[in-house]
This record gives sequence, C-alpha cells and structure tokens, in this order.
Amino acid sequence: MTKKNILLLAGDGIGPEIMLEAKKIIDWFNKNKKLDIDYSEELVGGASYDENETPLTDQVLYKAMDSDAVLLGAVGGPKWDTVDFAKKPERALLRLRKEMRLFANLRPAICFEELVSASSLKPEVISGLDILIVRELTGGIYFGEPRGIEPIENGERRGVNTHVYTSKEIRRVAKVAFDLALKRNKKVTSADKSNVMEAGLLWKEEVQALYDEHAMYKSISLNHMLADNCAMQLVRNPKQFDVIVTDNLFGDMLSDEAAMLTGSLGMLPSASLSEKDKHGRTRSMYEPCHGSAPDIAGKGIANPIAMILSFAMALKYSLNFDQEAELLESAIKLVLKDGLRTADITEKGKQNVSTTQMGDAVIAKLELKK
Ligand code: IPM
Ligand code: MG
Repeated sequence: MTKKNILLLAGDGIGPEIMLEAKKIIDWFNKNKKLDIDYSEELVGGASYDENETPLTDQVLYKAMDSDAVLLGAVGGPKWDTVDFAKKPERALLRLRKEMRLFANLRPAICFEELVSASSLKPEVISGLDILIVRELTGGIYFGEPRGIEPIENGERRGVNTHVYTSKEIRRVAKVAFDLALKRNKKVTSADKSNVMEAGLLWKEEVQALYDEHAMYKSISLNHMLADNCAMQLVRNPKQFDVIVTDNLFGDMLSDEAAMLTGSLGMLPSASLSEKDKHGRTRSMYEPCHGSAPDIAGKGIANPIAMILSFAMALKYSLNFDQEAELLESAIKLVLKDGLRTADITEKGKQNVSTTQMGDAVIAKLELKK
C-alpha cells in the first residue's frame, strides 16, 4: 500500500485538544488496519502568529499543497482581536483555501438519531435529516476586488467589498453539487439573491444552463430559491432539502444554520476540495464546521466528534479508504448509542464525558470491530 501523507494543523482554542483525539484514531488505523498514513504537525492561525508573526508561513503552505490531505482544527480567538487585519488567524484559513484552490466546500448536516432531542427543533422536523451544503469557497465577496477601507471627505471612511462571480466559477461548483446529488436523493436547491444582485442572477442562470446542457442530470430535480427564503425554509421544513448549492457568503451562513438543526456544531465535519490539476491530483482540506470555541478551550470538555468525522471524510474522499471511513462512522454511532455525551450535547440521564474520554470510547468501539 502506498504511503499517504497528511498534514495536521491543530490551530487555536480547542483545536489542539480535538486534534489529539484525531491523532489517536489515525494511530489506531495505522496499527490495526495497516493504513500507513504518515502525518506531521505544523502551526496555523494565532498559534503561528505568536511564533512567526504570520498566521501561515510559506513553508507550511507548501507543505499543505504537497500533502494528500490537510486536517485542520480551528483558528482564531479574542487573544488576536487587536492584530492587524492582514495577520488575523482567519487569514490563514482563507489563504489556504485560495492557494490550494479549494473551491468546493462540502458541509453535511446529518441528524444522528441518538441526538434528536438535542436540537432546538421538534424531533419530527429533524429526525432522519440528511442535507449536504455545497458552498463555493474561493470566490464571491470573500475574495472580490476592489476591497478595503479608505478615507473619504469630511473625515469619514468607506469600507468596500465586491461580490463577483464568473460563469466558470459558478459552473464548476454546481457540477460538484449535481454529481453528489446523483449519488444521494437527486435533488438540488440553488440559493442566490437573483432578485437583488446581478452576480446572483448570473449564478441562477449558469446553474440552470449547466443542468440543461447535461442529459445525465435529468434524473435530478433542480430548483432555485432566494437565499433568505432558503434560510427560513431550513428551520420550517429542513427535510425538503437534499443538496443545497450556494455562494461563499450565503454558504457560510446557511451552513451554520443547517448545522445547528442537528443539535450541535460539535458533531459536523467538512471537506474542501480542489479541481484535478494536470497531474490528476486533487488537493483537499478537512475541518470541523465549528470554530475554536475559546470560551471552553483548555477545559478538556470539547466534543472531538466533528474532528474525528473530518478524518473519516478524508479517508473517504482523499485517501480511498471507504470501508475504514464507514467503520469509524459506525463506531461513533455506537458510542452515542451507549449514552456518552460531551458538554455540548449533554442530556438528562446520559453520561457526561470529557474530550479524551470520548476519543477513548470511539477507540474502544473500533477495537470491538478489529
Ligand atoms: C467558516 C468560518 C470561516 C468563514 C471564518 C473563520 C473565516 O466561519 O469556515 O465557516 O467565514 O468561512
Ligand atoms: Mg462560518
């Protein structure tokens, strides 16, 4: 079996704590399933800023580009609130996305049956929920030019960002959404603000055109929804959705909303993928949907499941270990079934566990299936 290289970027806040659990899992697979995954660790975000005065060194970026997959914890925290905008921890994440060309961000929102009562919505509304948000990740207002803050007359200032998309950017992410929908429930909802923005109208037209031009997508039902309505429909009747494809900014917001439907952000992984380069290689980065949660950092109570499931996604999408990914997902389900809960998903009558205990419990379930 060929050796795989993955780069671990734990980052800030709870990042290092949850990454420790992911490492235990990687070690377990290497030892028991002979996966031969080589990993190394580097600093990113605030942790890198403290050491190198930049949230991402070129050396770490090159290492990320060179690896079979990057596993990232989380970046940011109040400690770096006063740092220059260009050097904020979040810039590391945005630079990694841009330079690695990770245009397709897959954010599943799956409701684990065991956690139905952890959601703020009624059980019947979210039971069985399985949505996939495909968020465009390297364009739109996050990266559009011109941008900046500039002085204007009377001592006032003006802040500018530009929402811009080309047909190519829209079509390549829509293609990812359609291809994934073919393997799922064959329904794609494209969310835009075509009633207000030209770039939104272009979004809608290009998604529709791509669909019309490809007979292989005929089995998919495509509908367009205004992004604000989509936000509302997500809490009204989330099970109407299968795959939602949307731009960078709406994707940021709709994915937080969708994630919370499932009870906890602490449960959800994500994958960011590039196009194939001329050597047929795809770059990828996997990270939990949640942030660095500075308020609970260092307490040993963070939920490591999103991080561990992010590794499961890496196994599936980048390392070609589908079976191992399924094994890991089923081990997590068994742990939840046993009633083990970290603080974010705590429930009456269930057993509260720490970050480490949760990681160990997953390993114990894997051991049973060795
Ligand atoms: C996310 C985060 C990032 C984003 C931040 C940390 C830059 O909210 O991945 O959803 O806005 O994309
Ligand atoms: Mg976000």
